[in-house]
Amino acid sequence: MKKYITGKSWFEFLLLLVIVMKSAAGNTSAQQPEVIYDESEVAPYTLPDALVLDNGTPVTDESAWWKERRPEILSLFETQVYGKTPAGKRDLRFVIASSDSNALHGKAIRKEITVYFTPDMEGPSMSLLLYLPKKQTAVPVMLGLNFKGNHTITDDPKVAVSGSWEAAKYKRGEDSMSWPVMGIIDRGFGLATVYYGDIDPDFDDGFRNGVHPLFYERGQTKPGTGEWGSIGAWAWGLSRALDYLETDEAVDPEKIVVLGHSRLGKAALWAGAQDQRFAVVVSNNSGCGGAALSKRIFGETVASINNNFPHWFCDRFKEYNNNEASLPVDQHMLIALIAPRPVYIASAEDDLWADPKGEFLGAFFADPVFKLLGTAGLTVTELPPLNTPVGKTIGYHIRSGGHAITRYDWDRYMDFAEMHFH
Ligand code: GCU
Repeated sequence: MKKYITGKSWFEFLLLLVIVMKSAAGNTSAQQPEVIYDESEVAPYTLPDALVLDNGTPVTDESAWWKERRPEILSLFETQVYGKTPAGKRDLRFVIASSDSNALHGKAIRKEITVYFTPDMEGPSMSLLLYLPKKQTAVPVMLGLNFKGNHTITDDPKVAVSGSWEAAKYKRGEDSMSWPVMGIIDRGFGLATVYYGDIDPDFDDGFRNGVHPLFYERGQTKPGTGEWGSIGAWAWGLSRALDYLETDEAVDPEKIVVLGHSRLGKAALWAGAQDQRFAVVVSNNSGCGGAALSKRIFGETVASINNNFPHWFCDRFKEYNNNEASLPVDQHMLIALIAPRPVYIASAEDDLWADPKGEFLGAFFADPVFKLLGTAGLTVTELPPLNTPVGKTIGYHIRSGGHAITRYDWDRYMDFAEMHFH
């Protein structure tokens, strides 16, 4: 005989359902601890010393840094965090897709360069948008990836709209507040940018699109556990942009500043750590997996970043979900890999998800390496007041306001680059 749910048992059934749903929700929050935004809740943690080898031997001179500790740290970031970038020089093709020597009301030269990653010019390519101040040689260039497409950084109607991923859905000039193009040109810098979706669209598709498949061995369908994720690919794209800039006669290839905001700040740091041709590296609000210390467990954590963005890091990084204590590195060591080249770390007061204090401490604990290599380093030991840039070889500021890259930030980065270039 069939059993029917009576009025009363419907009520009981619903009650049971509510209880089951509540307890499931309870379980989820038990697995995902509350986000810590209060300094008093930060538990004690131990950082690996950037100047002690894994076997316990202290690093006391430059030669031990270059020959032993630096390669050791780089390899830890490759195998445990971002994944290894495929080695080997690519046979790139640069095609000038457009060029205009009267851009920005006659103040600048604008070029769009299609960078093909294979000589047959098939497969993925990226479009590099370059503005250079007119009548200037040996131009220093600010290079960074953009989030929404080259056409969104400026109102300039001639900039092409990328066909990759989501670029077409954004309006021309819609991100121009983040890119003070005219201000950059007026200060004598060039600006180079690439849409990050040209290199690798930012969603978890099992690495079928973007540049990863270009490097698969026969039969391989996705990167191995210790191979690169999307941040690795974006960083690689920045180096390919630099490959082009080295060939442009107007540009000074020894004065390239690589910078990025947020996830693209993580990519800029990783690019600067791996590729020593970048003269200056800038991280704007890069947070977890960028400049902020993971072991503080403040704001975004390793588990939350891996759960929300499973494609950003290498698979092995997931072993450190809710297990930051066992990470053999922390982000101060990423900053240390940039030494002795100048690096600027910037935070924003209200950007607690990115852990401003943790970003400052990333810089602070990298400082001994900068000192060992004979630079002035950070020069301060405390988080500075708001809107007060500090530091020499490591620059730092915490700006009032939230998660963004603003004109204030850009002006500080250009001050910093000028100080080092002149
Ligand atoms: C998310 C993510 C951050 C990242 C940011 C961004 O908030 O959790 O890690 O930096 O997006 O890229 O804007």
